[in-house]
Amino acid sequence: MNHYNFESKSAQEILKWSISEFGPKAGLASSFGMEDMVIIDVLSQLKGDITIFTLDTGRLHEETYEVMERARSKYGVTIKVYFPNKEDVENLQRNKGFFSFRESMENRKECCSIRKIEPLNRALSNLDAWITGLRRDQGLTRVDVEKVAIDDNHNSILKINPLADWSLKMIEEYIKINDVPINALHKKNYPSIGCAPCTRSIEKGEDIRSGRWWWENPEHKECGLHPRS
Ligand code: ADX
Ligand code: SF4
Repeated sequence: MNHYNFESKSAQEILKWSISEFGPKAGLASSFGMEDMVIIDVLSQLKGDITIFTLDTGRLHEETYEVMERARSKYGVTIKVYFPNKEDVENLQRNKGFFSFRESMENRKECCSIRKIEPLNRALSNLDAWITGLRRDQGLTRVDVEKVAIDDNHNSILKINPLADWSLKMIEEYIKINDVPINALHKKNYPSIGCAPCTRSIEKGEDIRSGRWWWENPEHKECGLHPRS
């Protein structure tokens, strides 16, 4: 596939290309939200042998572990789990307690950095490309997401976002038609799911990521996994 015409390609075409180009040197970063489950389903239909990894922050919902287990049994996938560095978590909790992230943006970013960013950097250090479930209509921090881009924040590996132009409706339809297992919290008005203490359900009409770090302004609603370049 020509590098310059990704925008016109479907998610299936982009994932097929990723499998043939990178194989297990491509890794799907999965939080097992709806988007990531769609990607796992497409990969299994394509019989793609790529890596699937998750960042287990230690603060996830029980429902998230349940859907990981369902993904394992339905698709027979191996999930590569990355934990945060244990001394960093021990020090954070010893020095700042268990909810430091609520106290200031600085503390929130410190926790995300320890629990997500350092493990992500480790996961990506073995890969030539990473795949995410980012979509442009997930909010104002994501409107410019490209389907395939060079990731300057991670050693210039490729960042592949096959669902960039999918709407939530398309995701929901795919899930229904293909009987894809989803996190039980989605049915309780949690369209976007991260760590348990930093995620809540939303009201009808609210922005789909408004339940994430709800005490912060919308333009700051990123944990650092996906900085805007
Ligand atoms: S986040 O940065 O705010 O947490 P979001 O929950 O919208 O991101 O998820 C966007 C994409 O980031 C997911 O589709 C997935 O590719 C990746 N991602 C988010 N959280 C994790 C995680 N814990 N482990 C692996 N990948 C993740
Ligand atoms: Fe910490 Fe919350 Fe970030 Fe999870 S989302 S790593 S609990 S600040």
